[in-house]
Amino acid sequence: MCGIIGYVGHRQAVPVLLKGLKALEYRGYDSSGVALHTGASLSIVKRAGRLANLEKAIEQSNPTGCLGIGHTRWATHGVATDLNAHPFLSTYGKFAVVHNGIIANYLSLAASLRERGVNLTTDTDSEVVAHLIDHYYTGDVLSAVCRAARELKGSFALGVISVYEPNVLYGVRKDSPLVVGAGVNENAICSDISGISDFCGRLYAMQNGEIARVSTQGISLYDFYGKSRSFDLSPQEKEENSEREENEDYMHCEIRQTPLALLSGYESFPEKEAETVLSKPYDEILLVGCGSAYHAGLVFKGAMRELADTQVREEIASEYLTQKGGEKRNALVVAVSQSGETADTLLAVEKAKRQGATVLSVCNVRASSLVRLSDLAIITRCGRERAVAATKSYVAQVHSLLLLCLKYAEIKGKISKNKLNELKGEIAALPEKAERVIEEESYLSKVALAAKDAEAVFFLGRGQDCYAAKEGSLKLKEISYLFSEAYPSGELKHGTLALMEKGVYGVVIATDPALAEKNAATVAEITCRGASAIVVASEGIQPDMRADYVITVPDTHPLFSPVLTAIVLQEFAYYVAKARGCDVDRPRNLAKSVTVE
Ligand code: M6R
Repeated sequence: MCGIIGYVGHRQAVPVLLKGLKALEYRGYDSSGVALHTGASLSIVKRAGRLANLEKAIEQSNPTGCLGIGHTRWATHGVATDLNAHPFLSTYGKFAVVHNGIIANYLSLAASLRERGVNLTTDTDSEVVAHLIDHYYTGDVLSAVCRAARELKGSFALGVISVYEPNVLYGVRKDSPLVVGAGVNENAICSDISGISDFCGRLYAMQNGEIARVSTQGISLYDFYGKSRSFDLSPQEKEENSEREENEDYMHCEIRQTPLALLSGYESFPEKEAETVLSKPYDEILLVGCGSAYHAGLVFKGAMRELADTQVREEIASEYLTQKGGEKRNALVVAVSQSGETADTLLAVEKAKRQGATVLSVCNVRASSLVRLSDLAIITRCGRERAVAATKSYVAQVHSLLLLCLKYAEIKGKISKNKLNELKGEIAALPEKAERVIEEESYLSKVALAAKDAEAVFFLGRGQDCYAAKEGSLKLKEISYLFSEAYPSGELKHGTLALMEKGVYGVVIATDPALAEKNAATVAEITCRGASAIVVASEGIQPDMRADYVITVPDTHPLFSPVLTAIVLQEFAYYVAKARGCDVDRPRNLAKSVTVE
């Protein structure tokens, strides 16, 4: 993960870099740092911990210069200390480097650098890059960067400045995202547009194997052999749904934006293009994703089974990568990802493509690697999601996948016209129902307060509710650090029931009227062992449940209910985390975009 930024222009670089790093902090926040060309030399300030620590350090040293690079870190190699923070300098301070990704061959590079007398001072994989460029420098910085890039294995987006060129920065990309932006008398590179969007009106998303040479005069692009490449800068797209109340957490704001995201997703669903892709015969439909995106895929699987009479093979992307053989050559791969930059998902898609698969993705970032790899991309129009926890993006993924399922059922003649219209009507009503769920949040905050010191929280459900339970559990553990697991309700009695006792909470999701009695039995099994029960039920179901708390969501088709229950579970997690004093937007050990395997 990590976020990198570089600036060259007519302004002082420090405020620009710090503002950009603030926008990139969602990519990691274990440490941060900047390197500047001060005129005569390169100067570095870096600190472990949140960006505020770096800001304090900068106030004291007050470095100046109009060329600089910056970094915000999610630690992979080396603990989060000042020393291991980026940027890294080469031995005599001639080159400074920031890196996002993993240098897979850093141990062998470090060994050969040591043999040549280089003193490596950190535990990171990234430091070798600065020394390697220095090693290859014979008077031309671009050549040295090219030579080093060719030698690096793994994934990397790099920002490089050197003492030799006071007006030039380099961006290098292989398997980690990097954009180049053009402003007026100022240009920049960044892991994503959020860090530079306020001054770069035109952008280019770099491709693998490219090096950008960026100065105030302009931007040129090269391959790793220094051969010039042509490229087009495109105008920046307007960011949707970005308003936030003062001091409001991003997560809370993003949950509130869900109804709007659903509305935009419904209106922009690419009917014709989806029809073209789905009409072809496939040997199998394979769904890949990670975390919440994978959970959204489970809901798709459930809907496809019920509505389109079609089995979807679903795989956690990293697990799919470990499997050998058994590939169907003519598969439709449905890849789900908010960022479109998740390494495991991208690698899974590449693997499937090598087998001849067609790729349909559901993604929130148009200018992402996943969208580029896809035959068709359905863009979830949620606007940027900054909090680490997926909220509106998860709901929008589920929503787009449900529309996709209906389209598939229609094309394959699995559904009558009347039924199709009825279900489309249900989907069209979801934004308004989502709004109603959000209006009820004050009750949820009280329930959350009661559960804040739970010893463990088990999320339970059957069918689609079980898939929703998995997502609810992930959300809670991710931001509140409470222990939590999700199970199909029916599995409870096969082992997990042994853990039910006072202090433990069971969250039972019960939206399907056909399963009301079974769900009531689950609640009874929990409460009679002394554990507390929270039920999330549809309005129409008033089961005789002896639950401690009952939260209702508007009725919808049971296959679509995860759209609504997800909002309840997200708010529950949010309020539990707040009550526990957690940083909801930046939970420990995590980052928004997981660009390493
Ligand atoms: O960007 P992606 O959707 O590919 O990210 C996948 C997961 O890393 C992500 O959904 C993660 O599980 C969320 N932080 C959970 O809230």
